[in-house]
Amino acid sequence: MRVLFATAEAYPLAKTGGLADVSRALPLALRKLGIDVRLLMPGYPRAYVRVENPRIVAKIAPALGVDDATLVEGIFPETDLPVYLIDSPSLYRRNGGLYQDEAGKDWQDNALRFAFLAHVGAEIALGRIGQTWTPDIVHANDWHAGLLPLYLSLHSGPRPSTIFTTHNMAFQGNFPADWLEKLGIPGACFQAAGVEFYNQISFLKAGLRYADRVTTVSPTYAKEILTPEFGCGMEGVLRQRREDFVGILNGIDDGLWNPAVDPMLPRTFHLSDISGKRACKAALQQEMGLKVAPDTPLIGFVSRITHQKMADVILEALPWLCAQDVQFVSVGEGDPAMEAGFGQVRELYSANAAVIVGYDEPIAHRLQAAADILLAPARFEPCGLTQLYALKYGTLPIVRRTGGLADTVVDATATSIADRSATGFVFDQATSEELISAIGRALSLYREPLIWRRLQLQAMAQDFSWDASATQYAALYSAASGMPVDLGAKDQHVVLADQESTRQAAI
Ligand code: ADP
Ligand code: GLC
Repeated sequence: MRVLFATAEAYPLAKTGGLADVSRALPLALRKLGIDVRLLMPGYPRAYVRVENPRIVAKIAPALGVDDATLVEGIFPETDLPVYLIDSPSLYRRNGGLYQDEAGKDWQDNALRFAFLAHVGAEIALGRIGQTWTPDIVHANDWHAGLLPLYLSLHSGPRPSTIFTTHNMAFQGNFPADWLEKLGIPGACFQAAGVEFYNQISFLKAGLRYADRVTTVSPTYAKEILTPEFGCGMEGVLRQRREDFVGILNGIDDGLWNPAVDPMLPRTFHLSDISGKRACKAALQQEMGLKVAPDTPLIGFVSRITHQKMADVILEALPWLCAQDVQFVSVGEGDPAMEAGFGQVRELYSANAAVIVGYDEPIAHRLQAAADILLAPARFEPCGLTQLYALKYGTLPIVRRTGGLADTVVDATATSIADRSATGFVFDQATSEELISAIGRALSLYREPLIWRRLQLQAMAQDFSWDASATQYAALYSAASGMPVDLGAKDQHVVLADQESTRQAAI
């Protein structure tokens, strides 16, 4: 089975959040099952620096007004995962972010930049770029690749089956209707049963409407987004797709987020010996200019600084928090007004708070390893990966009961502590009172070292590896395409691989 995995970001080629982590880990986990997955993403300048053995494989015929594009194939760093980069200097070779310019403003041609990603995905899927490899399944992720199922649905002949995964219903890729023609979307698609959303073109809606199957990234979020509170206006669209819609939980990329081998940590540690965690804490305290105090609870926050992540509520709670005998360290960027609020915290509470406004992957790892407690609340959370990383690093997460957070953290109550299922702290309302009360519960258990140690070990022992979820995706691919996948049977892998080499030799 061959799968083209289309995404706007994949770590370490490009990353702004969890989508990048998933876009590396899931394809690798699927490859372990014998599925020939290949990645497709825009050729951002930094991607070329990291990709291995890049070579031009085809010129992409002019389309959507873009006439400077070529397809580059390479290998995803330190893996065997093939990746196609779309090299278009006019669309992707820019200084600035993946979606925004250096001033933080959305690129004004984002509609075209990501429609072109979808266009090239469809061309590869239909074997029209001159490449020898064509997929049986196209897996499009988030609004950036939302037009891919639509473009393929316009093709009357045989085409690969399409899966669309929404990682966040709040990001919809809605653009003015006058883009329709430029993006090659037939007028007939601009209706309520198509891509029209409040008189705009919605890339997210295109994905939800036109894909053969739709998924999201946790079972609870899959239920939530069928309701107006979480569906961001798309709940009706999703309800119509109920039969073809499923929530599959994300996992942890063991190759990148594993305290036993993490090269970004000053000391590694694992379930049977977590002493290295103390060294990580001391090193981070020193690095952040805080007092090296092994017994002072260190509370971390690694996040986009946004309304979704309740950064405003955390800001409300910080004066209380910083008045406790604790240390607070955060690394995050996002909403400028809230970023400024975090900056003030750094000034006001420099004795026990260290705030980094920005994006820093190594610090995120070091903080996960060093902290005792991770704040990971959210108003909504499709899956959330930071709480999973926290669990794995023996850092107890404080989360709100929503989406993937509800699916992955077990609140420490008298019962769950006794039956050894507790792994963190869960609260219900998105208020600073409830957040503070959950932090208070965590701090009082922190003062009971034996119980705390047990909770840490329980957290670290959780299995959120990708294997189980990848198997669910494989089953879904199989159901969507009618192709059998013989999971776990190595022979099958060999047969598929042989067919491919025979086919390629024939071509
Ligand atoms: P989301 O994708 O909604 O932002 P996730 O929890 O799924 O949330 O994924 C967030 C990812 O981004 C994690 O890998 C986390 O470590 C990383 N991350 C978030 N903010 C920062 C930051 N400021 N610096 C480094 N990594 C960050
Ligand atoms: C989105 C969601 C996050 C999820 C990630 C990967 O960014 O906000 O909850 O973990 O995608 O699926």
